[in-house]
Amino acid sequence: MTLATSDTLAAHHRCTSIPPPSIIFGRSSVMSRLRDVVDPIALVPIPVFIHGATGTGKEVLANYIHQRSPMRDGPFVKVSCAAIPGSLLEAELFGFEKGAFTGAGMTKPGLIELAHSGTLLLDDISELDITLQAKLLQFLQDGTFTRIGAQAERRISTRIICIANRSLQSDLEQGTFREDLFHRISGAIAPLPPLRERLEDLPGIMEYLLLQFAESFHVRPLPLSPAIIRRLRHYRWPGNIRELENVLRRYSLLGTPEALLEGLKLRSEALPVIEFPLHPNSPLKVRTQQLVRQAEAEAILHVLQEHDWNRTKSAQSLNISLRALLYKMRSAGISAYAPYKGDNKVTPLEALSPPD
Ligand SMILES: Nc1ncnc2c1ncn2[C@@H]1O[C@H](COP(=O)(O)OP(=O)(O)OP(=O)(O)O)[C@@H](O)[C@H]1O
Ligand SMILES: [Mg+2]
Repeated sequence: MTLATSDTLAAHHRCTSIPPPSIIFGRSSVMSRLRDVVDPIALVPIPVFIHGATGTGKEVLANYIHQRSPMRDGPFVKVSCAAIPGSLLEAELFGFEKGAFTGAGMTKPGLIELAHSGTLLLDDISELDITLQAKLLQFLQDGTFTRIGAQAERRISTRIICIANRSLQSDLEQGTFREDLFHRISGAIAPLPPLRERLEDLPGIMEYLLLQFAESFHVRPLPLSPAIIRRLRHYRWPGNIRELENVLRRYSLLGTPEALLEGLKLRSEALPVIEFPLHPNSPLKVRTQQLVRQAEAEAILHVLQEHDWNRTKSAQSLNISLRALLYKMRSAGISAYAPYKGDNKVTPLEALSPPD
C-alpha cells in the first residue's frame, strides 16, 4: 500500500463560517420541524445522520451542529469516504504504526484521534466499504479502535456526524450497508429536503447570498424583477442551494438577468414566464379574470414540472381530464414550450397539436 499525505485528502480540521440559523432553517415548516430535531440533539454528543440530495446544505448543517455543541471549541474533522480508496481510508481514519505496511515509515495517528473531543464528519458514508464498516461499528459501540499494526486499543471520545446523499434504505435492503452500523450512526436522523420543497425559503436565501456576493465582489446588482423571481420559483433546482449559489454568483458578476437565467437547466429554459397583457383601462372583472388565468397557468406549469412533464400524471394530480389539461396548456401557450428531449415522450408536433 502506498500513502498519500493528509493534505491531499479531503480532511479539514477547522470549522467554516456558515449562514445564520435564520437562513439555514428559513421559514418553511419542513425546515422548522428539522430545527426542532437538530437543536436539542446538537447539545448532546449522539451520532447524527444527515441525508439529502446534492447541494441541499448537508455540510452546512453538520457545521451548525458542531458549532452549537459542547464540543464547539474542539476540532471539526471532515473525511470524504468517497474520495479515498478503502485501504487508504482505513489508514487515514484509524492511523498506523511504523512498519505496519510498506510505506509506513513512521507512526501516524488517524483522523478519529485528531477529532478527539470534537466532531468527526464522515461524508458520503454510503461509500464506506464493508470491512471498514465493521471497524467503524466497533468504534461506535465502545469508543475503542486500534491503529493498523498496533496491539493496544485506544479510546477517544468524539461526536460522529455521517452524511449521505440518500436515506440508505435501499443500501440496507441490498445489504451493502450494515444494519447494525446504520442504527449506531443514526442516533438522530436529519433529512434535508430539496430546495423545491421549501420555496418559501428561496427569497431569504437569495437575499443572503446576493448580499454576500455584493460584499465580496464589491458589486451592486439590480434587484430582480418579479417576473424573474417567479421564474426562479418555478424552477426545479436539481442542484439545490449550490446551484442557486452558482446562478446568483453569475448574476452578481455579470449583472444581467439573462446571465442569471442562462445558468438554469434546459427544463426550465423551456418554461415561459406567462404574462397575459392587460389593457390599462380594463374593468375590474377583466383584470380579475386575467389574474385567475395567470394563476391557473402558473399552477399548471408547476404541476407539469413536478411530474417531469408527464401530462397524464399532471392531469390526475390536478383532478382534471387529460383533454382539459391539454386545452388549458394550449390556450396558455404552455404546450409549445414543453421540453421534448430526455425522458418525457412529448414531441414538438405532439405538444402543438390540438387535443381531439
Ligand atoms: N441555507 C443556506 N443559505 C445559504 N447558502 C447555503 C445554505 N445551505 C447551504 N448553502 C451553501 O450552498 C452550498 C452547498 O452546501 P453544502 O456543501 O452544505 O451542501 P451539500 O448537501 O453538502 O452538497 P453536496 O451534496 O454537493 O456535498 C455551499 O456553498 C453552502 O455554503
Ligand atoms: Mg457536501
